[in-house]
Parts: sequence; C-alpha cells; structure tokens
Amino acid sequence: MEFNNLTVEISRPIAILTVNRPKVLNALNLETVGELGAAFSMLADHDQVRALILTGSGEKAFIAGADITEFRGKTAPDMIPFARKGHDVARVMESMGKPIIAAVNGYALGGGCEIAMACDIRLASDTARFGQPEILLGLIPGMGGTQRLARLVGLGIARELVYSGEQISAQRAYEIGLINRVFPADQLMEEAKKLAGKLASMPSHAMKMAKLATNYGYDQSLDNGLMLETQCFAHCWSHPDLEEGVAAFLEKRKADFHND
Ligand code: COA
Repeated sequence: MEFNNLTVEISRPIAILTVNRPKVLNALNLETVGELGAAFSMLADHDQVRALILTGSGEKAFIAGADITEFRGKTAPDMIPFARKGHDVARVMESMGKPIIAAVNGYALGGGCEIAMACDIRLASDTARFGQPEILLGLIPGMGGTQRLARLVGLGIARELVYSGEQISAQRAYEIGLINRVFPADQLMEEAKKLAGKLASMPSHAMKMAKLATNYGYDQSLDNGLMLETQCFAHCWSHPDLEEGVAAFLEKRKADFHND
C-alpha cells in the first residue's frame, strides 16, 4: 500500500507508521487522516504484524495538529466530516486487537495529542511537547481531545489544558499521566521497538482480549465492564494458547504460543 503522507515499514512482527510531512511539522491534512485510517485498517488485518509504533518524521514533531492551512474558507458543514474522519481513525486504532505505541518525538499538539491518546501506550522523548492549543485559534479540539484527555488525566487538568491552550513538557505530561515513559531523544525509537517486540511476543489472542476488555470496558458501568471482562476472560479458553501457557508454566519451560 502506497501513501503520500505516511511511511509504513513492516519488520515482522512490528509495523512502524511514520507521518511524513516534515515541512509542516507533520500536520494532519484531510488526506493524511484518510491515509492513517487506511494504514491502521490494513495493519489490523495483517497476519504478520502483532504490534505497531506510530511516530513523526524529523526531529521536531510527532504531529503538530490539524493542518491549519485547510481551515481557511471552510464552513461548519465542511468540517464535520473532518472531525468524524478523525474520530473514525481513533476508533480503528482502539478497536484493533493489537497494541499501538506512540513514540512521541516532538510536538504532539491538537490532533497530534489526540491521535497519541488513541494509542495504547505513549512513550516520549524528553524534547516532546503536548497540548490542545485549538482555543488559541478560536476553536476547540475536534478529534476526541475534549473526551479522551479527561479520561486519561482527569477532568480538572483536562479543562485547564483545553481552556488555556497551554503547551506542557514531556516531564509534566508524565507527571499528569498523559504519557507512560520519557526517554532521551536518541533512545526513544530503540525503547519503542524494544517494548513493541515484547508486546508482539505475547500470545496474540490474549492480547486481543486484554485490549478489548480494557478499551471497551472503561466507559461502562463497573457491572457492565466486569461482564465484558468475564466474556473476554472466558474467550481465552477457546484458544490453544491458554493450554500451552498453562502447560509451559507447570512444565517449567518457555511457552510456544500459536501467535496467528
Ligand atoms: N498546520 C499547518 N502548518 C503548520 C502547523 C499546522 N498545525 N504547524 C506548523 N506548521 C508549519 C508552519 O506554518 C511552518 O511553515 P512555514 O515554514 O511555511 O512557515 C512550519 O510548519 C514550521 O513551523 P514553525 O511555526 O515555523 O515552527 P516553530 O518551531 O516556530 O513552532 C509550533 C512550532 C508547533 C509551536 C508552531 O508551528 C505551532 O504553534 N503550530 C500550530 C499548532 C496548533 O495550533 N495545532 C492545532 C491545530 S488545530
């Protein structure tokens, strides 16, 4: 699959997606949003890929938000499909049965922060900057930022970031729980690959169930979430990996998972 604004490198069992518009700090125009959706959908079904990394090209930016040059002259009806397309990409990311790691190598602003939040795990370089600066343009986040940020860091801090448009450092993002880990910039990709390799080595059916239960259970009442967990837990018995994992433990050997 060829893209104009993305590169996809498959190094089995890992895929690395790089948003490749360095001249505009990897800002997301409509075409790039569509390409991200197509790439994630393709990789969701790719039987050789078991973990994904999303990053940005160049040393300065992960994604510096939506491409502001596309806003001029637009009307509300023009922009509703843009927001919906962004939401659809995030839902593809969250519903695929494979872990996605954001390797945030610089600015993750607006749509960049929003796409990072749709990833399962966020690693960042110590030079990364995060924020939802839309309000400074007379706008609000439109790719999930008003919803996912509060779910990740709590309503109080989310309001502060969305209302002020303030940028925060990687260290601050770590402190508020927006990201999982911070690394020196020259170690970020190596660490992301190490983690992706580790997650890719996990039994893929159990990984799928773990992602489904956590992502879909989170917004439910506790009772509904526990019901979903029970279904996913029970579903693990439908796959030979469980028998192999238990046998390997009891026989004191390394498990040889199916990983299909
Ligand atoms: N959309 C379109 N172009 C963008 C962009 C965006 N979101 N972010 C950066 N660019 C472009 C700049 O216009 C500039 O283009 P030019 O070289 O033709 O002038 C180029 O990328 C480099 O950006 P520049 O602003 O010169 O870099 P900087 O280091 O001074 O500042 C940022 C970096 C990220 C702080 C600044 O570019 C910025 O605030 N970008 C907008 C972020 C934003 O509001 N995102 C949410 C949009 S809804």
